[in-house]
Amino acid sequence: MAQEREPLLRQQNGANVAAKGSSSGGALPSLARTVLKFLMWAVFLTWAAGIFLFPTKPAQAVFRNLIGLVRDSPLGITGSIFLAFSAPILIISVLAYVYISFFPTDHVENKKLRSLSFRLWTFPVLVDGPFGVVSAVEFIGIVLFIVYVVYSMTYYAVETVSLVSEIHVPESFESEFILEVIGLRLGSVGLFCMLFLFLPVARGSVLLRLIDIPFEHATRYHVWLGHLTMALFTLHGLFYVIAWSMEGCLIEKMVEWKKIGVANLPGVISLVAGLLMWVTSLHPVRKRFFELFFYTHQLYVVFVVFLALHVGDFVFSISAGAVFLFMLDRFLRFWQSRAKVDIIAAACRPCGTVELVFSKPASLRYNALSFIFIQVRELSFLQWHPFSVSSSPMDGRYHMSVLIKVLGTWTEKLRSIITDVQEQNRGDSESQSGRITACVEGPYGHESPYHLMYENLILVAGGIGISPFLAILSDIIHRIDEGKPCMPKNVLVLWSVKQSKELSLLSAVDAQTISSSVSDKLRLDIQAFVTRESVPPLEDGIAGDDQKVPGMFVKNGTTMSGLVGTGDNFWAAMYFVASTLGFLLAYALVQAYYVKPYNVVAWWYLGLLFVLCMVAGVALPGGLVVLLWHLSEKRRLEDDRWDAAAASQSSPRATTSDDDAAPSATVAGLRTTRYGCRPNFEAEFAAFAERAGDAADVGVLVCGPQGLQTSVARECRARNLRRGARMAKSASRAVFHFNSHSFDL
Ligand SMILES: Cc1cc2nc3c(=O)[nH]c(=O)nc-3n(C[C@H](O)[C@H](O)[C@H](O)COP(=O)(O)OP(=O)(O)OC[C@H]3O[C@@H](n4cnc5c(N)ncnc54)[C@H](O)[C@@H]3O)c2cc1C
Ligand SMILES: NC(=O)c1ccc[n+]([C@@H]2O[C@H](COP(=O)([O-])OP(=O)(O)OC[C@H]3O[C@@H](n4cnc5c(N)ncnc54)[C@H](OP(=O)(O)O)[C@@H]3O)[C@@H](O)[C@H]2O)c1
Repeated sequence: MAQEREPLLRQQNGANVAAKGSSSGGALPSLARTVLKFLMWAVFLTWAAGIFLFPTKPAQAVFRNLIGLVRDSPLGITGSIFLAFSAPILIISVLAYVYISFFPTDHVENKKLRSLSFRLWTFPVLVDGPFGVVSAVEFIGIVLFIVYVVYSMTYYAVETVSLVSEIHVPESFESEFILEVIGLRLGSVGLFCMLFLFLPVARGSVLLRLIDIPFEHATRYHVWLGHLTMALFTLHGLFYVIAWSMEGCLIEKMVEWKKIGVANLPGVISLVAGLLMWVTSLHPVRKRFFELFFYTHQLYVVFVVFLALHVGDFVFSISAGAVFLFMLDRFLRFWQSRAKVDIIAAACRPCGTVELVFSKPASLRYNALSFIFIQVRELSFLQWHPFSVSSSPMDGRYHMSVLIKVLGTWTEKLRSIITDVQEQNRGDSESQSGRITACVEGPYGHESPYHLMYENLILVAGGIGISPFLAILSDIIHRIDEGKPCMPKNVLVLWSVKQSKELSLLSAVDAQTISSSVSDKLRLDIQAFVTRESVPPLEDGIAGDDQKVPGMFVKNGTTMSGLVGTGDNFWAAMYFVASTLGFLLAYALVQAYYVKPYNVVAWWYLGLLFVLCMVAGVALPGGLVVLLWHLSEKRRLEDDRWDAAAASQSSPRATTSDDDAAPSATVAGLRTTRYGCRPNFEAEFAAFAERAGDAADVGVLVCGPQGLQTSVARECRARNLRRGARMAKSASRAVFHFNSHSFDL
């Protein structure tokens, strides 16, 4: 076993890379922090109010005056619309980089709850229904969007009807006129929704990091906004189609490609691309034919480019800011994911789960709730599969592991490659190697480790959903062991599995032994529920140890790249600033030396030039910064290599500070198992609340199937409501803060 673990260099100096620099919170006066926060809120609220009030007459008048003032300035109409709707996002992003660079403590371990209270982010309001589990703040967001769409469309409809009499539209043409104007308005409201559509899918975006929403969670906002945007765009198209049919010119209008004004054919192409993406992303299709959904979704390029051709530069600039953030992220991902990454070790566990251990540079930040995307070129050049890390940054500075449950074609093929190599190596001890060419993108995920905010923690897992919790357990045990800040003192794990053989996954916790000094400070209770077996098997499910084979793959000395939004704040900020300035400069140059001298007036062409300027900004100045970032990364990796070699020589076997002390328990030994039943959340939560004390904040984190998330959210909501209403005198005053980690994108 010691030999098996040899390549996994555990940290020798206990450095937690994620927490690096976290103590700098006091370095700048709290005034600076307040000012930054105030500025971000002020820009955001003004921007949001501008969008919300845009349909109203007073706001329209202000906007028209603004355009009148700047139309002859170098900004032009496009520049002023960009300034009003897109620039605020970019300004907040710059402020966010400053904020997260100077005040990282806000995001790391001492983000302690101030008082026993409900928090809008963690209070589940809806637990069932089309939106899944919805927190109070998400509910407010949904309501605001619905109100915005309904009120603006009502406003526009009333305005359109009065316009008919104001401008004396001929009676025979009234219906067509109304249909066309309302269709136009539907399109413009859709464009405002699209402004938000791209924000959640910029995976490493500084905005997601600022509000600490992991990409995996943010994708659901993208899904909701996608439905709304596509519903509006579809109605937009439909209204025009009906109006044109009534006018008897449907085909001519659909293929019309005007020079001045909106070009219809690009709009039709964009809408068709959008509809294809929409249909294939509907849940039943996405669930059953993930690849169909994924590949069809690449039509977003057609959707965006043809939208720009359809509406021209000045209308497109409404949603350009968010598209630009997405482009920045996509370009960086492209660079990061090209690097091949060494697999240090791999195991096929008896329950059919594969464990992979990747080499990573010490400087790459992640935490126990992070996840990465993996590509294995021998299996597919196009597929990237997301997996949560099952190791914690405390397990070692130079590696990161994942646990992969075999579910479908890709995971099945991965397992066969690994078992083939194992078989081959068993037969031929001379050639101890095989080949898996892996690339990794990420890590993404929570900016702050959620689990470190609570003294009382309930982790609820279903099946392979245990994987991130193994990282959390390891993190907590290591932290206490090494005397690092660690809030959790009372941890309950409720884990449902279908079959007892899955219980062996618990042996993947890096910190297997719990010394008496740790058990004095941590009360850990692991309760497993085997739902599809009614009696324990003879071996109690633990038999069949893992067969981790270290170093069985050809190694090139390559490691994960840190070129990702979450990697290095300085370089990420430089990349952002260079690209943004590059885009603005490219646009100004194109205007000054091409558009004006050559009198370019075609809207569609100006739209295309606008998109090309965005691409040039990202690819040229942005690309240059990425190149410099890459070179500095390479130099740092060289240093890492020396450090790693020195670390392995000074202490070849992994040790923890308490190795000499007699372990009082093992993690697996703390498990109690029940068969033939699911956990009874009501009873378990009640017992935990009693144990935690009357007035405790309890952090609940769930990772597993949707049904499990619903049950846990329902229980949290019921307990919190009972507490709030004080209906039952005996009800505990503990507040249950719900949080989920989803395995479904
Ligand atoms: C944030 C996140 C973390 C995850 N962590 C883990 C983990 O730690 N361990 C684990 O075993 N599984 C994890 N998963 C699930 C894992 O990504 C899928 O099980 C895996 O991709 C299935 O691939 P397949 O081709 O073998 O299965 P298939 O049968 O092709 O797919 C089964 C289901 O997996 C999902 N899926 C398939 N391909 C992808 C893809 N490229 N990207 C996203 N989802 C896909 C779809 O919902 C599909 O219906 C995680 C998923 C997410 C989103
Ligand atoms: N399976 C897939 O195709 C797939 C693909 C991608 C991602 N994922 C995600 O991966 C995660 C885990 O999947 P998995 O296949 O490892 O899980 P799994 O084997 O299906 O196990 C889930 C366990 O949770 C239990 N459970 C379900 N609902 C529950 C509830 N309401 N209350 C209590 N227990 C409940 C199940 O009990 P019962 O046996 O009684 O149902 C089962 O023991 C899920 O988030 C899933 O969405 C799954």
